[in-house]
Amino acid sequence: MDQIRIIGGTPLHGVVEVGGAKNAALPILAASLLGGGECIIDHVPQVQDLVTMGKLLALLGVEVQTEGGRVMLEASNVQSIEAPYDLVKTMRASILALGPLLTRLGEAKVSLPGGCAIGTRPVTLHLKGLTMMGAEIHVEHGYIHAKASRLKGARIDLDFPTVTGTENLIMAACLADGTTSLHHVAREPEIMDLCAFLTKRGAKIVGAGTDTITIEGVRELHGASHRVMPDRVEAGTFVMAGAITGGDVTVKGCVTDHLGTMFTKIQEMGVELTEEDGEGVRVRRSTPLKAVEVKTLPYPGFPTDLQAQMMALMAVAEGTSVMTETIFEGRFLHVPELHRMGALIDVDGPHAVVKGVPRLAGAPVMASDLRASAGLVLAGLAAEGETIVSRVYHLDRGYERLEEKLQALGAQVQRVREVI
Ligand code: EPU
Repeated sequence: MDQIRIIGGTPLHGVVEVGGAKNAALPILAASLLGGGECIIDHVPQVQDLVTMGKLLALLGVEVQTEGGRVMLEASNVQSIEAPYDLVKTMRASILALGPLLTRLGEAKVSLPGGCAIGTRPVTLHLKGLTMMGAEIHVEHGYIHAKASRLKGARIDLDFPTVTGTENLIMAACLADGTTSLHHVAREPEIMDLCAFLTKRGAKIVGAGTDTITIEGVRELHGASHRVMPDRVEAGTFVMAGAITGGDVTVKGCVTDHLGTMFTKIQEMGVELTEEDGEGVRVRRSTPLKAVEVKTLPYPGFPTDLQAQMMALMAVAEGTSVMTETIFEGRFLHVPELHRMGALIDVDGPHAVVKGVPRLAGAPVMASDLRASAGLVLAGLAAEGETIVSRVYHLDRGYERLEEKLQALGAQVQRVREVI
């Protein structure tokens, strides 16, 4: 298994370019299932989760061709209705096949995703919404089995603005009979990107990016081309890499509007952020980091996907910071690993109280999930001596060539094979 080896302490300098957004590319690729006609998707990040999505779509009968960051899809001959356990267990986002398969083929059988390291992560809201659109849904033998000769437009009020739940319902509503209005939905930029693609395919969607989205069902969608938005979580991770090492980094493709709350917090910590004309955001720090209080919330709040990375900054900030995680109940698995590097963090339920130390000490640590891995890499960049992050396959699910991009900024980072 691969590991990432970091010798910390080097301030990062230079320009880094952000790739396409994993969490936008996943639903966009899944949306190919909604009809025939060639779909050409550019700026697709070459990360493991997208490879898994490609495999799933191919298994369902989509012709999938990949050339670097371009994925070409043709879904005229989709016949299979089943997303099997073997794929779903490796990637929960496989649930994004449910809405499209059901609305296009009248039936879908998708393995029920289990919990994962960061939380129990139910999908009841996806199922509730589809039921309100007329689907008959049974969960049996670990599978969600949904049927509907044609879904019907409905008014659906979500109890919580679930991201993939919103995406599944939008896609299902595209081919439903009549108008669907979705209320209290997620407003993440990735949802706007999905809706932009669906609109190019002929879907009739109003309100993407607000908490109410209205979709007028159409009979069929056609092919279209689309370029995936930049990855705001990757962008945020590089902003924090510049900040934690006290460097001078320009993050190209970093969209300020996508990370507003995070920027405010990073500035509160004493980091200078400037928008560079057409070049993204420049990050500079010349004074010690200062403590802050942060609470993760649905967009436009502080993203849970940047919580572990932010905690690495808090660990070396002057004073006592508080991190409150409101989205996932189990997303503090990086804390015991940060303890191994000398961080002083007390967890009490959803709160982590972080007493900043002047310097972390490099240590062997273990990644538990995708974003926790990124948090440990950032901690390693700021620590004294050598940090080895193992179980890097978590990182590879969502970050494209992270170590290469950090190397180009001057970081002493290498991917090595674990010697057992
Ligand atoms: N929830 C329910 N019932 C549901 C659905 C969700 O209670 O039916 C709860 C969840 O348990 C959780 C909260 O709602 O407490 C938010 O979950 P959500 O459904 O919004 O998360 P998701 O759609 O499964 C997406 C991203 C995650 C990201 C979250 C939150 C994709 C493919 N995944 O997950 O990304 O953390 O939204 O922003 O878009 C990552 O990239 O590392 C990652 C985990």
